[in-house]
Amino acid sequence: MAIIENSDPRASNIELIGRDNINDFEEIFQVVGREEENGRHLVPDHCPAEFTWDYEKGARPKLDKLYEKAKNAQWNGSTDLAWDTNVDQEYLAKMAYDEGATGPMAAPDMTGTVLATWGEKEWVALNMEYQNWMLSQFMHGEQGALLCTAKIVETVPWIDAKYYASTQVMDEARHVEVFSRYLDTKLSGHYQMNGHLGLLLDDIVSDSRWDMTYLGMQIMVEGLALAAFGLMHQTTKEPLLKQLLRYVMADEARHVAFGVLSLQELYLELNAAEIRERQEFAFEAAVRMRDRMAGQEIYDRLGVPLKDAAKVMSQDPGRLDFQALLFGKIVPNCKKLGLLDAGDGWLREKFTEMGVIAFEDFEDTEAEVDMEADGSPVERNLV
Ligand SMILES: [Fe+2]
Ligand SMILES: [Fe+2]
Repeated sequence: MAIIENSDPRASNIELIGRDNINDFEEIFQVVGREEENGRHLVPDHCPAEFTWDYEKGARPKLDKLYEKAKNAQWNGSTDLAWDTNVDQEYLAKMAYDEGATGPMAAPDMTGTVLATWGEKEWVALNMEYQNWMLSQFMHGEQGALLCTAKIVETVPWIDAKYYASTQVMDEARHVEVFSRYLDTKLSGHYQMNGHLGLLLDDIVSDSRWDMTYLGMQIMVEGLALAAFGLMHQTTKEPLLKQLLRYVMADEARHVAFGVLSLQELYLELNAAEIRERQEFAFEAAVRMRDRMAGQEIYDRLGVPLKDAAKVMSQDPGRLDFQALLFGKIVPNCKKLGLLDAGDGWLREKFTEMGVIAFEDFEDTEAEVDMEADGSPVERNLV
């Protein structure tokens, strides 16, 4: 595979993402998340907390409007979702198997790998593990959002943004809660955080600049999450999960819009070098978010050699389309922020190489939130 050239010698792919070739599947599979033995993951947080003495509510009208909308859109994960729904995970996994080969099962050449010996039992088990893993990653990502947004309350200098961010803290607590409950009561196991997602969240939390929290979390992580939730919402046949995702997605559209609105104002004041740093961070985050979808921890747990998993996953015929769809929110929002074409258009070049540039003219998330500006972005009790 071609090695991506980087026009800026100060920031090579190795410096940004730890490897030269962004598409090297074997290297992507070498990064496997591990939980600390003491169960605690500590990340130094270097941001100064900032008080403001300017209490004028509504000085930033769009943020104020979003805050008012968020106050009306709160829901209760304990009582608004149909938790009495019976979920037969094995039946659903078997149904997916019976529908025909998709994902890694559709890889044309598994020769020489452990997966070549698998039959129905193993593939159905993989489907179940994949769901446990995916929902676990959603849960961990939600906790990342909870921490990052609490940090934004402290660090962002504007009162309208502090107000809005406080509503997002509550939203994220609810999201962690509902994903955790779904895993505990409807599925068959938890997974540790994916290695790539963990590296990215550590980078976001440890950055000392408040706008990097927004770029990493609200634009990149939540932008991808919104697309991933949307895909799962469309495809799942499980009514409780469908309902849960619909509620969460209504919140997430606001969160991404919060990032775009806040950064648009700040980026007008940044110089070319500062914008370039943001472009590089967006690229690093995009690659990490893409690489986190490979499911490394599942194969590791099942005892499949990572080399075998990498060989099979790299041939999944739907992989590139699936990955590209996940960027349907990120690319237009980066464009709206001016990051795509700033300077020499470095980020456009990188997104082109990743095969996701086609989404640049998709609807950005601000429009999506406005479409739901009827005061009731969530249809209650929709199953
Ligand atoms: Fe969330
Ligand atoms: Fe969120």
